[in-house]
Amino acid sequence: MSQSLATVAYLGAAILFILSLGGLSNPETSRRGNLFGMVGMAIAVLATVFGPRVSASGMAWIVGALVIGGGIGLYAARVVKMTQMPELVALMHSLVGLAACLVGFASYVDTSIQLEGAEKLIHEVEIYVGILIGAVTFSGSLIAFGKLNGKIGGKPLLLPARHWLNLVLLLVVIWFGREFLRAETVEQGMLPLVVMTVVALLFGIHMVMAIGGADMPVVVSMLNSYSGWAAAATGFMLSNDLLIVTGALVGSSGAILSYIMCNAMNRNFISVIAGGFGSGGGAPAKKGDAAEPQGEAVPVSATETAELLREAKSVIIVPGYGMAVAQAQHTVNEIVKTLRDKGVQVRFAIHPVAGRMPGHMNVLLAEAKVPYDIVMEMDEINEDFPEADVAMVIGANDIVNPAAQDDPTSPIAGMPVLEVWKAKHSIVMKRSMASGYAGVDNPLFYKENNRMLFGDAKKMLDEVLSALKG
Ligand code: TAP
Repeated sequence: MSQSLATVAYLGAAILFILSLGGLSNPETSRRGNLFGMVGMAIAVLATVFGPRVSASGMAWIVGALVIGGGIGLYAARVVKMTQMPELVALMHSLVGLAACLVGFASYVDTSIQLEGAEKLIHEVEIYVGILIGAVTFSGSLIAFGKLNGKIGGKPLLLPARHWLNLVLLLVVIWFGREFLRAETVEQGMLPLVVMTVVALLFGIHMVMAIGGADMPVVVSMLNSYSGWAAAATGFMLSNDLLIVTGALVGSSGAILSYIMCNAMNRNFISVIAGGFGSGGGAPAKKGDAAEPQGEAVPVSATETAELLREAKSVIIVPGYGMAVAQAQHTVNEIVKTLRDKGVQVRFAIHPVAGRMPGHMNVLLAEAKVPYDIVMEMDEINEDFPEADVAMVIGANDIVNPAAQDDPTSPIAGMPVLEVWKAKHSIVMKRSMASGYAGVDNPLFYKENNRMLFGDAKKMLDEVLSALKG
């Protein structure tokens, strides 16, 4: 393939990626968005593999890597459960970071690249910055992977003088950067490069370890953004325009998502990155505080729940992580259909950080074919709870915790929540009194108008459905 044809193909792929992002911003166009992305990626891979920069001898390596990598990816995508998706995404971000590091070292030791003066300087800055972002993304994403799948606890690790520690690490990176750029040979430059890589790896670990469970959504989208910048840095090192464009698209959309997440959780981006929020980050709740259990949690049966739903005029359903675990979305849709047939107004209230990844609930509800027009964002529906007869919480916890409003010492204080307790009745469906991801007790369970429907969400909803139909 000639250079000009490869450039045209890259341009086409870049346009398809932009259309893909546009499509993914809305549930109704998301399938099309996905398709654009897939076609764009296929064009990009083909144009690279058959492009002018790949020699015949390199082809065997590329095909081998494609078969092995593609095989692992296919296997992972087939076996991973929907609830493990965020971990898989975190792991993939770590691979982007690792790739940026490897490409950086490879381009530094590549003797075929002979540059002089300003060009050499720019190339070395690209390498240094690329490896820096790559290493932070790599180690940070691995820790995020551990935190998301529960192998690493959600409590923030708050080292004494951690901000000073971060500052020292930054100064070390700058100083070794100077040494690296002053090095005259590859051998001389290697030491500062390796030291900086180790420091960046430690920084990535420290940064994510310092973030509490409740703030993980911001970290996930932030690492998504970093992986984009790492890809863009790789593009600069390899002089690959498409990688630069794609990396910048991912980097900037991830940054916008992080901003949206911070707004949704009423957090300041810098404070989240500096760490310390989330479970254990705030002062522990004192006796008599709003977060203290007040009163008793009253259990309710599936039949009684069905009775309440049948008598209601307006029902708001709040899905959370537990609905995803139980895979209860199809039964939820059946219940919605049955209630709507009986003339009950049913709507969904979606919290921006419900579940474990952005849009988690929307994806599940779309999969179950719940009509889009009854799925509302938090801001659209939060004021309607007082008029609702029943608020049905399915496997959600942190996102409906009134302590976020009432208890300034709570680790989730200030985070906007769905005000289900304002409905005439609220029913919380979960298996036990256990806390949610942020590890905070939930005073909602003890409210007078609240009932607890204990059990696996799918099993309980099946019972509710048969009681409704019966
Ligand atoms: P959580 O607060 O984690 O609560 C989920 C609840 O579901 C748990 O308390 C659990 O209680 C229940 N549950 C689990 N399996 C169940 C099953 N099979 N049947 C019924 N219930 C089940 O979830 P949420 O309310 O969706 O809030 C999300 C939390 O995750 C927030 O703290 C958020 O910051 C964090 N987070 C979000 C994201 C994104 S981007 N969305 C990313 C990382 C972290 P039982 O064990 O008693 O059943």
